[in-house]
Amino acid sequence: MVTRKHEESCILIVGLGLIGGSLAAALRASGYGRRDSDDLGGFGPAEQIVACDPDPDEIRRGLEMGLIDRGDTRLERVVDGASLIVLAVPVLAMRSVMGELARYLGDAAGDVVITDVGSTKAAIRDCALEVFGRMPANLVLGHPIAGSEKSGVAAADPELYIGHKVILTPEPDTDPAALARVQAMWSACGAEVLEMGVERHDQVLARTSHLPHLLAFSLVDTLARQDERLEIFRYAAGGFRDFTRIAGSDPVMWRDIFTANRDAVLASLDDFEAGVARLRVAVERGDGDAMLTIFDRASHARHYFESLLNKTSYQAEYQMQQQGNLRYRMSPGGAVVGRIRVPGDKSISHRSIMLGALAEGVTEIKGFLEGEDSLATLQAFREMGVAIEGPYQGRVTVHGVGLHGLKKPSGPLYVGNAGTAMRLFAGLLAGQAFDTELTGDTSLTKRPMNRVADPLRLMGAEIDTAEGGRPPLQLHGGRALKGISYDMPMASAQVKSCLLLAGLYAEGETRVSEPAPTRDHTERMLAGFGYPVHRDGDTCWLSGGGRLTAAPIDVPSDISSATFFLVAAAITPGSDLVLEHVGINPTRIGVINILKLMGADLRLENEREVGGEPVADLHIRHAPLKGIDIPLEQVPLAIDEFPALFIAAANARGITRLRGAEELRVKESDRLQAMADGLAAIGVEHTLYPDGIDIVGGGSAEGSNYGGGRIDSLEDHRIAMSFAIAALRASEEIIIDDCANVATSFPGFVDLARKVGLTLTEESGEEGA
Ligand code: S3P
Repeated sequence: MVTRKHEESCILIVGLGLIGGSLAAALRASGYGRRDSDDLGGFGPAEQIVACDPDPDEIRRGLEMGLIDRGDTRLERVVDGASLIVLAVPVLAMRSVMGELARYLGDAAGDVVITDVGSTKAAIRDCALEVFGRMPANLVLGHPIAGSEKSGVAAADPELYIGHKVILTPEPDTDPAALARVQAMWSACGAEVLEMGVERHDQVLARTSHLPHLLAFSLVDTLARQDERLEIFRYAAGGFRDFTRIAGSDPVMWRDIFTANRDAVLASLDDFEAGVARLRVAVERGDGDAMLTIFDRASHARHYFESLLNKTSYQAEYQMQQQGNLRYRMSPGGAVVGRIRVPGDKSISHRSIMLGALAEGVTEIKGFLEGEDSLATLQAFREMGVAIEGPYQGRVTVHGVGLHGLKKPSGPLYVGNAGTAMRLFAGLLAGQAFDTELTGDTSLTKRPMNRVADPLRLMGAEIDTAEGGRPPLQLHGGRALKGISYDMPMASAQVKSCLLLAGLYAEGETRVSEPAPTRDHTERMLAGFGYPVHRDGDTCWLSGGGRLTAAPIDVPSDISSATFFLVAAAITPGSDLVLEHVGINPTRIGVINILKLMGADLRLENEREVGGEPVADLHIRHAPLKGIDIPLEQVPLAIDEFPALFIAAANARGITRLRGAEELRVKESDRLQAMADGLAAIGVEHTLYPDGIDIVGGGSAEGSNYGGGRIDSLEDHRIAMSFAIAALRASEEIIIDDCANVATSFPGFVDLARKVGLTLTEESGEEGA
C-alpha cells in the first residue's frame, strides 16, 4: 500500500467524474479519512473527502461507493472548511468554477490550497489570471497523466494513479508550502510527481496525448461515415481496436481540450501531416527503402517506449527513477562451473554501428551487444536517418549512407550512460554540415569532455560544453576541419578514436600519438572497411576525404564482461569455467596478463581470428592467487577490468599494488573511491592513493576472506558486478544498491551468474528498504 504523508483535514473535489472519483478512491486506499482507519495509522474522522458535482446522481454514487463523506451540487454549501480543493471539472468549466470559488472563499482564500487536473495548462492559467487578477500563490496547477476511455465516478479506480506521472506547473510566485502539499497528496495516491513549465507542458501533451486522440476520433469517424451501417466494424481486427480505443473517450472533455490547447495541437498536427505526406510519397512510388527507414525507426522507437513503460528501459537512468533502486542480494559462497558465452564487445559494437552507418553499402553485424550503451548509439543513428534493421539476437543490418549522408536529427541525441558514444560522436559529428547536441544521463553529465573538445577545436570544430567541459555538447556544423598532430595527454582510446573519426572529414592528415597503447578497434575496423590507417610506434594517422566500404562484422564476446566470471572462478575453490569466443585483442588482455601474474590457472584455447579481431575460449580453474605489483604497462590494457581485479586482490595472499591508474577516477564513477568504499564495507584492508590502491588480500584457501555488507554501486555497472562476484568468498550476504546500469554493458548478467553457480536475488524498492 502507498504510504500517506500529507496532513489535509478536508479535501474538496470539485467534479466527481473518473478523475475526481479515482482521486477520492486513491486517497481512501491510502487510508485517508477512513473511519475504520485506526489500523492504518490512526487517521480520524476529522479527515474528510467532500465532493461537488452538478449531477446529483454522481454525488449519490460517490457516497454509495464510500468514496466521499459528503457531497452537494452547489459549491457554496461544501466549500467551508476545505483545506485543499481539487478542481476536476472540464477545462472550459474552469473559469466559472474559479469565479464561484473566488466569491465563496472570500478571506479564507489564502489558507486553502487549490489545484486542478486539467489537461491543458496555459488556458487554465489564463482563467485564473482573469478571475483572481493574478496567479494566487496558493494555486498550484497540475495534470495527472492517467485516465481511461471510461467516464463517471462509477469507473473510479483507486489504482489509476499508481506509477503514473503527475505534472505540476508552479509559477514563480507559487508558495512552496502549497506546492509541497499538492505533491504530498499525489504521492499518497502512488503517483510520481514532476514539475514543468506551463508552455512546455502544453507542447508535450499536444504531441503525446492530444494528437493521438484527435487521430483516433478522426479515423473512427471517417470509417463510420464511409459505411453508414457500420458494417465495416464487424470485420475490424486488432489493429483497428488498438489504434482507436481512445476514440471512446468523453467528447465534451476533448472538445474543451482542443479548444483550450489550439495552437500547440495545430503545431503537432502540422508535423504529423508532413510525416504522413512523406509516407504517402513513399507508398505512391513504391519506395521500399524509404518505407523501411520510417517503419524501422518507428518500430524501434515503439519498442523503446514499451521498454520504458515496462521499466526494462535501456535508458537506465529512467529505470532508476521509476524503480527507485534495483538491488542485488548475494548469498555468500558457491562455486563457478560451466561453459558460457558472455555478450558482445561494447567497444566493437559501438564502432560497428558508427562505421556501418558511414560506409557505402550494407553492413551485416553479428554478435552485437544489445546493451543500453550500444543501443543508444544505434538509436542515435536512426535519428540521423540511417535505416538499421534489428537487433534480432545480436544480428543487425545497417544500410550505410556514406560519409556525407547523415541527416540532422530533430532533437538532441541522448546517449544515456555511454562515454564511448559521446566522445566518438563528438568527432564524427564535428565535421557534419548540421548542428547537433549530445546529452546523457546524470553519470555521463559529470564526465570530462574537454579531452575531446579541446583537440577538436584545434582541428577547427566549434563546440560548446557545459561548465567545466561537461556534457551536454553543442556541435556547430558546417565548419571546415583540418588535420592536426596531437599528443594525447592521457592514454585514451576514446580520444584517439574521436580524432580519427573527425579526421575522416578533415583536410590533410590527422595524427594521434598515445602515451601508452590503447584499444585499437577503430583502426582495425577502419582498415576492414577499406580506409587506410597507418601506424608507426606510438602514432597512428589517416588522411581525410576517403570512403568507407561496408564489410561484415563478427563481434567477439566482451573480455570486460568475461572478466567478472574469470575472477569469480579464479577466487573460488572447486571452480572450472570456459568462456567461449572472447575477444583477445592484444590491447585488451591486461586482465589475462595480470591474473596469470597472480597465479591464476587460465588457459587460452581454440585461438582464432574473426573479422579482424583475435578470439579464444578462456578456460579458468581455481588456483590460489598471490598479491603482486601490477606492471605499469598493463594499466591501460586492463583499464575497465580493475574493479573486478580488486576483488581478485582481496582474495590473494599478500598485498596487490596498483599505481598510474588515475583514469579510473573519471569513469562511470570514481572507481578508485567507489571500490575503496565497497572494500571497506566488507572489511577488506586497503590504502587509497590518488592514482591507485594497495589491497591486503585475505588469502585463505578455503572459506571466506572477508565479511558481508551493503555496497553503493554509485550506479556504476562494473562496481555492481564486481561486488556480486565478491560474495563467492564472503562470510555474510552482500547487498548491492543501484544495479540497473548493469544493463548498459551486460544484459543477462543475472541469469548467467545464476547459471554458473552464484546465488543472487534481484529486488527493487525505495532507498534503504
Ligand atoms: C573505450 C575506451 C576506454 C574504456 C571504455 C571504452 C572505447 O575509455 O574505459 O569503457 O571503446 O574506446 P578511455 O578511452 O577513456 O580510456
